[in-house]
Amino acid sequence: MNDLVNHRYIVEELIGNGSFGNVYSATCQKKNTQFAIKTEDVRSPYKILKHECSILKYLYDNRCRSIPIISWYGLHNRVFCLVTPLYDMNLNEYLQTHDELPLPTVYKLFQKLISLVQSIHELHVLHRDIKPDNFMIKNGELFLIDFGLSCFCIDDQSNHLENIQLTEITGNIKYCSYYVMLGNRPSIRDDVISLGYMFLYILYQELPWDNVPHIEDTLHPTNHISNRRTLKIASYKEYQSIKLFPMIDKKLIMYFQYSYNICYDESPCYNALRTLFT
Ligand SMILES: Nc1ncnc2c1ncn2[C@@H]1O[C@H](COP(=O)(O)OP(=O)(O)O)[C@@H](O)[C@H]1O
Ligand SMILES: [Mg+2]
Repeated sequence: MNDLVNHRYIVEELIGNGSFGNVYSATCQKKNTQFAIKTEDVRSPYKILKHECSILKYLYDNRCRSIPIISWYGLHNRVFCLVTPLYDMNLNEYLQTHDELPLPTVYKLFQKLISLVQSIHELHVLHRDIKPDNFMIKNGELFLIDFGLSCFCIDDQSNHLENIQLTEITGNIKYCSYYVMLGNRPSIRDDVISLGYMFLYILYQELPWDNVPHIEDTLHPTNHISNRRTLKIASYKEYQSIKLFPMIDKKLIMYFQYSYNICYDESPCYNALRTLFT
């Protein structure tokens, strides 16, 4: 995509390629500032980008500031484009370039991540794809991106959505919560649990279920709750197995003990979670 989007954004490098479209860096000719452009082909059957835009707009209009502000959204050469500020790097890239962060720094990071996730939950938005690649850093500040899979956890009458039994898993298997892997509809609890898996990854650079090998299963696709490998990973995510992860940080065990006990439609005490890492 070598182009001028909306008569002002000069498209530069490809900086991310996801399952539904690419992300490019761009410079605004008028302001000489940098932006990111997330794209989706007009022929795509999913229409995820428009949904992402509406969630971002809702959050921003309700004073959430740890998410990208939309500079432009529209159609350019049969490609939908979402223009937002360009961040320095995602959390995964940050961790790869900063080995062995001191523990107090890591705990501070955890507290900030809890507050960030809290800020969208307080507006009844679930992210449903919590993972290091979806947290961005710019000038030491954290931002949550990629709201393509996100949704509200309440209906038009402000009632919490009912838990229903699902057979397919939304989001990535690696960070998806134990309860979602069992087929529960994702709720706030599950974002909080996924955040815990992310903390595990930040502390140990790996997750206990990373090396579960491919298991032949001709009956179920990988995102089906009955897929054999998915079931195996779910067993690793049981609280009792996580607790036994060698040398696991005691504060993290407490984080999991608390978060696994949150009810489906309950909001956690974010303050108590932050206090674990003081
Ligand atoms: N505003 C941005 N600034 C810098 N990099 C970005 C920005 N938005 C996305 N990226 C990069 O592109 C990747 C994919 O973008 P994301 O919105 O998460 O889409 P996907 O749905 O494909 O995961 C991110 O993990 C990040 O590395
Ligand atoms: Mg992403």
